[in-house]
Amino acid sequence: MKKYGNIFILTGAGISAESGLATFRAANGLWNNHKVEDVATHEAFLRNPAYVHDFYNELKLELNKAQPNPAHLAITKLQKEYTGANISVITQNVDTLHEKAGNQNIYHIHGVINQAVCLNCGHILETWGDVDTETICPQCQVQGMMKPNIVFFGEDLLYMNQVDTLLRKCDLFLSIGTSGVVFPAAAFVQTAKYYGADTVEFNLEQTSNNFYFDKHITGPAGTTLPAFVDELLKK
Ligand code: APR
Repeated sequence: MKKYGNIFILTGAGISAESGLATFRAANGLWNNHKVEDVATHEAFLRNPAYVHDFYNELKLELNKAQPNPAHLAITKLQKEYTGANISVITQNVDTLHEKAGNQNIYHIHGVINQAVCLNCGHILETWGDVDTETICPQCQVQGMMKPNIVFFGEDLLYMNQVDTLLRKCDLFLSIGTSGVVFPAAAFVQTAKYYGADTVEFNLEQTSNNFYFDKHITGPAGTTLPAFVDELLKK
């Protein structure tokens, strides 16, 4: 295995599955128990902000208790021991398991569960407590304008300039635990491939994006990623 200089690690809900967190599209997935159009669109938030706040406040309780699994920890090991490379974690997940595992250079492109943003002044409130229509923005003191800092469908992803730069530079692209059906994240592998990266997918099954991956490593990421990292570190 060659030595890489810039590693782009894209993660999805599957990397957190072995931490006990539901994915979105599996049989017991989040989107099977709640309709996207009721909790993950701007229209839903305008229509019934209290219902949307309740959904994320409940999810926040669960995510706050979750602990990282060997897949998250393998990324920390790689960032610590794989010398001379820039290794970035671009996650679609709103949980903080990458942070809890000690990962660095994390970009939450779909937002993060313990943040709310003030629609009046843009202030980001970081809290594991409930946020609702009564919450007063600590910055502008306006009440009832706080929104979960989650990127709703149809909204722009966060950190896209940094992601674009990282994609053009990367020589190794790892996709871990994502179904590859939500764009633009699902197209990142095409860009990485176009700019010459080696691309590897870690999933329980082959996904529709399979065409763009040089290698597909099947199995639970908690097992397959630590083994892959050990191979990389042998270099
Ligand atoms: N190891 C590896 N992969 C796994 C594991 C595991 N232990 N468990 C599940 N997976 C895989 C599934 O096979 C599936 O392909 O993880 C993927 C999870 O897919 P989704 O539930 O669609 O989650 P994700 O790809 O992260 O969704 C992307 O969609 O709804 C939006 O904003 C939401 O960020 C989310 C985005």
